[in-house]
Amino acid sequence: MKVIGINGSPRKTWNTAQMVESALNGCKDAGAETKLYHLIDLKFKGCISCFACKRLGGPSYAKCGARDELTQVLDDVWAADALIIGSPVYFGDVTADMRAFLERLWFSVLMYNPEHMVRAPKRLPIKIILTTNAPQEGFHKALNESLLGTMNGFVGPAELIEANATLQFDDYSKYDASMIDGAERLKRHKEVFPQDLKRAFDMGRRAVEEAKALK
Ligand SMILES: Cc1cc2nc3c(=O)[nH]c(=O)nc-3n(C[C@H](O)[C@H](O)[C@H](O)COP(=O)(O)O)c2cc1C
Repeated sequence: MKVIGINGSPRKTWNTAQMVESALNGCKDAGAETKLYHLIDLKFKGCISCFACKRLGGPSYAKCGARDELTQVLDDVWAADALIIGSPVYFGDVTADMRAFLERLWFSVLMYNPEHMVRAPKRLPIKIILTTNAPQEGFHKALNESLLGTMNGFVGPAELIEANATLQFDDYSKYDASMIDGAERLKRHKEVFPQDLKRAFDMGRRAVEEAKALK
């Protein structure tokens, strides 16, 4: 069993990265090998609309034809047994890097062919992690529904969890952020975030169990 984790946050040690790492630890605990990519480390772009993925008989049919540092990531995803992606919510959406990754993952297996719309090489369980400043789960409902719907349609059975009201700064008094109660955030970070990490860990375990069942 191999699971790929993708961190779409530019911060490699903060909330989203920790949630993805915890989920991958859950996968390891269930016996899987894991690999983590931080998208911020990679030089790549979103879909460039070359349509090589839809070119009948072409060498990139149903694969992303763009060549850059995301190519290996996409190959690894389709060779894996499960996928875990994590992103902070930025202006109601995933980060630009995560969006660029998703464009290439999704569009390359989508054909404009109502009789055979999805040409993915297989289906694999997808676990999605969102971290937010918003105080409660489901605040970005449309985003959750669109991620779950598209993943379910193109890649595999998807599940989504959130870590809400995350800690954004070490010291709120040093930033122009008076609408946030820094002491409350720190308290939540100490009391609730460890539970969020545990939920991510458990979800990682489930990813591996579900991948085994799909085999
Ligand atoms: C550019 C930017 C835009 C953001 N937009 C939103 C938003 O629309 N909704 C929200 O709940 N949080 C928003 N946030 C807060 C982050 O999603 C949240 O703090 C997240 O946990 C940060 O993840 P990280 O610690 O992994 O970087 C935004 C943060 C940044 C930097």
